[in-house]
Amino acid sequence: MKILVTGGAGFIGSNFIRLILEKYPDYEVVNLDKLTYAGNLDNLKDIESDERYSFVKADIGDAGAVDKAMSGIDAVINFAAESHVDRSIGGPADFIMTDVFGTYVLLEAARRHEVGRYIQISTDEVYGSIAEGSFTEADRLEPSSPYSASKAGGDMQVMAYHTTYGLPTIITRSSNNFGPYQYPEKIFPLFITNALEGKKLPLYGSGKNVRDWIYVTDNCEGIDTVLHRGEIGGIYNIGGGNERDNLTITGLILEALGKREDMIERVPDRLGHDFRYSIDCSRARALGWTPAHTFEEGVRATVDWYVNNRWWWEKIKSGEFARYYREQYGK
Ligand code: NAD
Ligand code: DAU
Repeated sequence: MKILVTGGAGFIGSNFIRLILEKYPDYEVVNLDKLTYAGNLDNLKDIESDERYSFVKADIGDAGAVDKAMSGIDAVINFAAESHVDRSIGGPADFIMTDVFGTYVLLEAARRHEVGRYIQISTDEVYGSIAEGSFTEADRLEPSSPYSASKAGGDMQVMAYHTTYGLPTIITRSSNNFGPYQYPEKIFPLFITNALEGKKLPLYGSGKNVRDWIYVTDNCEGIDTVLHRGEIGGIYNIGGGNERDNLTITGLILEALGKREDMIERVPDRLGHDFRYSIDCSRARALGWTPAHTFEEGVRATVDWYVNNRWWWEKIKSGEFARYYREQYGK
C-alpha cells in the first residue's frame, strides 16, 4: 500500500508514520506537510533516510501540490490541521482555511484519483462537552471553540463526499493524546517541560475540567485498525478510557518529577472552556482494537521521554513558542 499522510510532521502524524513503517515492511509513506509552527522534521529524524518514506513540503489547501502528491496513492490519512484550542480563540482564520477548506481540497483530489480509502482524523471535541455519560458516533455535533467548529466543518465535508460521490471515507474521533513529540503548547508537554525548567505550571480556572487521555501510539494503532478493517462511510471514536481532571494530571506530573505543588499557578480560565469530554469506543473495540497502555504506563513513558529528549523541546521553546507564551502570559 502507498499511503499519503498529511500533517505527518506533527505530533500524532509522526508517531503514525513510524508505526506504519515498523509494522508493514512493504508499505510506502508520502508525508505532505506545510511545516507550520507545529510541524517539525526533527519528529521524523530516525526514519528520514528510510527509502519507503518521502516528504513533500506543501499546504493541503494548495490544489496543484495535492493533486501531484495524490498520484498513485492507495489511501489518504489526513492529520493536517491547526490543532490548538487557545490559538483558535486568538485567531480562527487559519483553522478555517486548513481544517475546512484544506479538507475540501484533499477530498476533491481523492475523488479525482479514485483513492481506495480516505481517513479523516477528527476529534472528540466536535461533540462538545458532556456532563454525564459518553457520546456515541451517532450523537449530534455541538462544537464550542473555533477549533472544534472547524474540525466539525471538515467532518461534514467528509460525510457529504461519501454520501454524494461515494468516496470511500472513514472518520476517527479520538480523545486527548499524550506522548513523545507533542508540541509544548499542550498541557502534558507544557507542564512537564515547565517543571523541568523551574517555571510555573499555568492551570486554567478550577482545574476540574475533565479530559479522556489516550497514549499516542494506542491512537495510532486504532487508526491503523480502522484503515484496514473499518467500515466504509463509518465513524469511529478512539479513546483511552482514562478520564482525569486537570488538577489530577498536574499532580501526577509533579509527582513523577519529584517537584512540589507550589509550582502550580492558577490563571484565568480559557474562554468557552468545555468541562468534560467522554466518548463511547465500543465500535472501534468491536474491530479488535484496544489500548495497549494503562494510563500510569503512558504517564511514565511520556515524562521519561521529555526528561531524556531536552534537545527536542529546548529548541522549540527558545523559538516560535517563546513569542506565543509571552503573548499568552506576558513572560
Ligand atoms: P499538530 O499540531 O502537532 O500537527 C499538525 C501538523 O499539521 C503539523 O505538522 C503542521 O505543520 C501540519 N499542518 C498544519 N496546517 C497544514 C496545512 N495547511 N497543510 C499541510 N500541513 C499542515 O497536531 P496533532 O496533535 O498531531 O493532531 C493531528 C490531528 O489529530 C489533527 O487533525 C487534530 O485535530 C487531531 N486530533 C488531535 C488530538 C490531540 O490530542 N493532539 C486529539 C484528537 C484529534
Ligand atoms: O480532545 C481532543 C483534543 O485535545 C484535540 O482535538 C486537540 O487538538 C488537542 O489540542 C486537545 O485539546 P485540549 O484543549 O483538550 O488540550 P490542551 O492540552 O490544550 O488542554 C487540556 C486541558 O488542560 C484543558 O482543559 C485546558 C487545560 N490547560 C491547558 C493548557 C495548555 C490548562 O489548564 N493550562 C494550560 O496551560
